[in-house]
Amino acid sequence: MHPLSFRVVLIAVSIILIFVFLRQFATISIDDVYQFSQPVLQENGEYAPAVTSPKSESGKGDSKAVEHASAAASASATTSEDSKCVASSSPTAQPTSADVGIVSMLYGKPNEYYVKAIETHERHAARHGYPSYILRSNVYPLHNGVWNKLAYLLHLLVAELQKPEQERTKWLMWVDADSIVVNPALSLDIFLPPKDFSNVHVLATKDMNGLNAGVFFLRVHHWSIQMIIKAISIPQHLPHFGLGYLEQTALYKTFNDTEFRESVIYEPRIWFNTYEFHHAYEGKHGDFQVHMPGLGKDRWPHMEKWLNITSGPEQAEWELPVEETRYPKETKVYWNTLRYVRAVLNYAEYREKKDSPAKDVKEAVEDLRVTFLYASDAYKKLKEKAEKVHKMFEDHTGNGTEDSNHVLKQLGQCRDDLLGSSESDTNPMKGSCHFELDK
Ligand SMILES: *[C@@H]1O[C@H](CO)[C@@H](O)[C@H](O)[C@H]1NC(C)=O
Ligand SMILES: *[C@@H]1O[C@H](CO)[C@@H](O)[C@H](O)[C@H]1NC(C)=O
Ligand SMILES: *[C@@H]1O[C@H](CO)[C@@H](O)[C@H](O)[C@H]1NC(C)=O
Repeated sequence: MHPLSFRVVLIAVSIILIFVFLRQFATISIDDVYQFSQPVLQENGEYAPAVTSPKSESGKGDSKAVEHASAAASASATTSEDSKCVASSSPTAQPTSADVGIVSMLYGKPNEYYVKAIETHERHAARHGYPSYILRSNVYPLHNGVWNKLAYLLHLLVAELQKPEQERTKWLMWVDADSIVVNPALSLDIFLPPKDFSNVHVLATKDMNGLNAGVFFLRVHHWSIQMIIKAISIPQHLPHFGLGYLEQTALYKTFNDTEFRESVIYEPRIWFNTYEFHHAYEGKHGDFQVHMPGLGKDRWPHMEKWLNITSGPEQAEWELPVEETRYPKETKVYWNTLRYVRAVLNYAEYREKKDSPAKDVKEAVEDLRVTFLYASDAYKKLKEKAEKVHKMFEDHTGNGTEDSNHVLKQLGQCRDDLLGSSESDTNPMKGSCHFELDK
């Protein structure tokens, strides 16, 4: 046999084996009905009773994987006569890298609402060329199936990190099955940190109970492996630690650790984890999605309402191009505020080393630091606190040296550049916020 045709046969056989494997997998999990308790946070702070969610009602989820396999099969079938094409279709020949991969899980007793909700994510992902990964079986039923979330993220992180860098998906976005994409026109890079925030590895959101782990972004990075390992091992290592909200509390606690906290940023919940309450949706037309964590049994009519909207004529009112949404303006103000806060904190640290500021200044700085670490989603408040600290230094220039007053002037320029009224020509990279401090 010609060596090239041997290769073709080998590829074809592998594809058939993958296909058979996937079918097998599908059959097992459809029959294997789990009482999957997806905890759903209620307004009283409790989780709703176990919800059964589908492995896949229509087989749609599985057929997606199978579709991939058969697409690959037909691709290689069409090229099988041309051995050159087969050679060039090896996985390394066409590096692809997506900004974001969508990740979720769905298994157990069929539930058409969850199936359809996940499908809104899959359609959104397909439209923007994002891969989507849906865990379809209970692989890690530790105490409660929610721990699958962390196990699956760990698996995907490892799978991405072993690829050459240019082929990796850069971020993973976790979405719970009770969230629905409302504005599929939006690409997800609007939420990602700018280049000068390369130390940020988690983008999360909060509600009155603290972190909500129903929707968040995680950077594909070894940092994330370290963080997940720590969170997922809490039940074994700290068996008496009260994990009231299970994996959510574990993540929240881990995000708070000194070694991780500077890489976790809280964005306004309304941007990508917008809640549906009993009385209303907290978002508006053009917002990315709707999440229903606190509705208890009322979740079903609310999900039906939103699935009706997103699959019917009303969808047109909700789907807006990014220019017509809150995102361009709000994200710009947000990141500029964080840049300014960072500059103020740097300056304060420098002053702490040079001269010892008075107690009230120290306290205001500490308050700003804590707000920056744990509540950057409240960025208007954050800005006020930074301006307060800044003003304390400005009001007492007599305390500073010539050098420190010179830097203080630059800090003023930095504030004007970042937060000035002439928003259209704001250039965050102007350099006024990168001053020399080590004198
Ligand atoms: C995180 O740390 C802050 C500041 O020390 C504290 O106020 C908050 O309760 C902590 N949260 C968690 C979940 O540990
Ligand atoms: C959703 O649409 C169906 C079919 O039009 C309708 O029967 C149902 O009442 C709608 N549900 C909600 C909650 O609006
Ligand atoms: C400057 O010194 C005054 C008087 O000692 C003090 O009250 C004030 O807090 C100091 N300000 C700063 C920014 O150090």
